[in-house]
Amino acid sequence: MVQAVLVAYASKHGSTKEVAEAISATLRALGSKVDVVAAGGVKDLAGYDAVVVGSAVYHDRWQEEARGLLKRVRPQLRERPTWLFSSGPTGGTPDADAKVAAAAGNDSSVPPKGIEHEARRIGAREHITFPGKVSEEATGFLERWMPRGDWRDFDQIRAWAGSIHAQLTDQ
Ligand SMILES: Cc1cc2nc3c(=O)[nH]c(=O)nc-3n(C[C@H](O)[C@H](O)[C@H](O)COP(=O)(O)O)c2cc1C
Repeated sequence: MVQAVLVAYASKHGSTKEVAEAISATLRALGSKVDVVAAGGVKDLAGYDAVVVGSAVYHDRWQEEARGLLKRVRPQLRERPTWLFSSGPTGGTPDADAKVAAAAGNDSSVPPKGIEHEARRIGAREHITFPGKVSEEATGFLERWMPRGDWRDFDQIRAWAGSIHAQLTDQ
């Protein structure tokens, strides 16, 4: 049976949106019907068999639209297989991640605030953290202090999407 999957994301500078699109493209190539939508625009989950929700991490928190989505549709998420991803730590090395964490005022090696608890509440299959990207457009007050670079690993992202497909189709 073809699975209908919703991939919802929250992204400030666009890199998490691209992660969501890579997950969607992989699931589609493997045979699922996929919608990729900004988290703020999701009203309900009718018609979807499974859901992936991801957010960029700023100051140890998911973005408001993604947190709002989890709250809004929590009962529906509990009834569906759900996967969560954070797009956050940058640097690719413990040293560079420590710089991001210091500039953001937290420890980026642990899941963002509240997400583990939320994952348990909705019975999420998994929460994964992917390295992120700090783009040249990030010129806000604190953003200026971040090391610039793109540490996203699209092979890792596609492999994770593949594992979602395998679980959905019980392979
Ligand atoms: C001001 C600022 C604060 C950040 N705070 C965190 C953080 O607390 N934890 C983390 O893992 N990453 C943090 N990051 C890294 C971002 O999550 C990363 O750049 C992400 O890929 C941005 O996604 P976006 O392009 O979708 O907005 C921060 C980045 C900036 C610019």
